[in-house]
Amino acid sequence: MRPQIKGSTILVTGGAGFIGSHLVDRLLDMKAKEVVIIDNLFLGNENNLEEAISHGSILYKDDAEFATSLEYIFERHDIDIVFNCATKALNYSFMNPSNSFETNTKVVLNLLELQRKNAFTTLCHFSTSEVYGTAIYEPMDEAHPRNPTTLYAAGKAAADLAVETYVRMYDLDSFIIRPFNNYGPRQNYKGELAGVIPITVFRVLNDLPLEIHGTGSQSRDFIYVHDTVDAIVNVFDKLPKGESVNISTHNQVSIKEVIETIAHEMNYKGEILKKTSRNSDVFCHNASNEKLEKMIEFRLTPFSEGLKKSIDWYIKAITK
Ligand SMILES: NC(=O)c1ccc[n+]([C@@H]2O[C@H](COP(=O)([O-])OP(=O)(O)OC[C@H]3O[C@@H](n4cnc5c(N)ncnc54)[C@H](O)[C@@H]3O)[C@@H](O)[C@H]2O)c1
Repeated sequence: MRPQIKGSTILVTGGAGFIGSHLVDRLLDMKAKEVVIIDNLFLGNENNLEEAISHGSILYKDDAEFATSLEYIFERHDIDIVFNCATKALNYSFMNPSNSFETNTKVVLNLLELQRKNAFTTLCHFSTSEVYGTAIYEPMDEAHPRNPTTLYAAGKAAADLAVETYVRMYDLDSFIIRPFNNYGPRQNYKGELAGVIPITVFRVLNDLPLEIHGTGSQSRDFIYVHDTVDAIVNVFDKLPKGESVNISTHNQVSIKEVIETIAHEMNYKGEILKKTSRNSDVFCHNASNEKLEKMIEFRLTPFSEGLKKSIDWYIKAITK
């Protein structure tokens, strides 16, 4: 029997990051008994957990790639459920492909081994739309071939296979949620690993010219982070072990449109520079969320509303 979130002790790997920290807050709202986090702060930020820590959550600033670091936590907490969010941002795989692959595979293998030894009951593993590569048919459903175009995505695809195979071999209660492009508060806005929305707001605020890589016609299925977290906690007790589900809006927005909308909202009158396209950039991501919608009621924040909320949040965070 899958444990319920309410009353359970839960570990969130990568919980100081963007989606993980929103998930931690939601698990606490749902009256999880205890929420423990492991994050090496590669990109995560302790500030994202300010509220959670004030409500008793514990952050282990440690590396989940080390099996012994996880074992240390499992010795101290009677964990029932693990949400595996830890990863190093996709762009990092252009700088250090091998380590990007390793993070995406080692952490999940460490967790699956612990689960196989009965250290905890349920694993909710985070995959990514990137495993599909550029759409060969649209909208992409869960049966779409996995065709990674980066080492980040190759690591994620390998992790999916590991989860599916451990379930087949050892009958573990593990399943995969596969978000598409999330946006919203708390995404990293600094440096080369920043997401497109936060970095664009950052550039406007710092009088830097805006940039579009390639034509800008590459599209993504943007989903507001709170909608993703809603979907995850609602699908949690419904998705059978060994299965995966897309978490998406069934819609797509081009990068050009995103940047131009931010420019308009922030009254930016400067240049929009055309930069060379990134090697291996996925061209189109339009997902089917039919499977998800059959399982749960799913409310989606309109993109314009979510984008406005995000811009407001980044203006406050960047200028404070
Ligand atoms: N943001 C998106 O649009 C998106 C889309 C699809 C899938 N996902 C998946 O959702 C999950 C969360 O993504 P996110 O956007 O919140 O990313 P994020 O970078 O904000 O969070 C990942 C966290 O993992 C931490 N981390 C990295 N390596 C670690 C390690 N070895 N040990 C412990 N912690 C480590 C980082 O410090 C960071 O806080 C990831 O698995 C990602 O692949 C995200």
